Amino acid sequence: MATNTLRSPHILRLLDRLFVEDDSSHAAMQQVTAQLDLPRLMTSKTQYRALYGLLKQMPLPVSRETGYLLYMLARSTHARTILEFGTSFGVSTIYLAAALRDNGGGRIITTEFEPEKAERARANLIEAGLIDLVEIREGDALQTLADGLPESIDLVLLDGAKGLYGDILKLAEARLHPGSLVLADDAHHCPEYVHSMRSDTLKYLSIALAGNLEISMKLE
Ligand SMILES: C[S@@+](CC[C@H](N)C(=O)[O-])C[C@H]1O[C@@H](n2cnc3c(N)ncnc32)[C@H](O)[C@@H]1O
Repeated sequence: MATNTLRSPHILRLLDRLFVEDDSSHAAMQQVTAQLDLPRLMTSKTQYRALYGLLKQMPLPVSRETGYLLYMLARSTHARTILEFGTSFGVSTIYLAAALRDNGGGRIITTEFEPEKAERARANLIEAGLIDLVEIREGDALQTLADGLPESIDLVLLDGAKGLYGDILKLAEARLHPGSLVLADDAHHCPEYVHSMRSDTLKYLSIALAGNLEISMKLE
């Protein structure tokens, strides 16, 4: 019988708690961002560290719907190797690692430059009982993902600084195979990335799903 780790009571409780924490952070988030030129900072290739430093107490997770979609896509593609850009408190990592568990095992490499967030993600993944599937690389993804990647990658989730989506994908692209998925959350903030994924029609099939999730499948 197929297992569904996401239905484990301790994981349901943990995800509920993390989403409640996210809900209660919205007012503080609005206060922090009210004075900022958010659209410019979100796409900046130079000021992302400062922006995320201001947001280091905020969970900023994928939505529940996107979380379930991540789980379903990772399961239905039988993913065994996953790369994630942007760990935060580990919500998306929990959905993806749960899929790996139910696929029979595998490895997710995820990366986060805020040390406190990396620690919180580790604690959450320990609580979820999924830490054995996860490698958390602490530091800027441009460095932490520059080497030591698995030979083949089945699924990539881009959910860090929006201005870097194209650069991070380049680090992993040679390891994708036909059928590999690249999922980019909040991709409406990076029109250049979306344009590049849709314009090379021999390389990728790419569409927007669930509002702001750009989903691209490697063709060749
Ligand atoms: C939207 S949140 C990720 C949410 C997470 N995927 C989840 O669902 O819980 C983006 C995270 O990426 C981190 N980040 C942004 N740019 C980064 C970079 N260049 N290297 C490492 N981490 C980065 C931020 O600190 C922030 O915690």
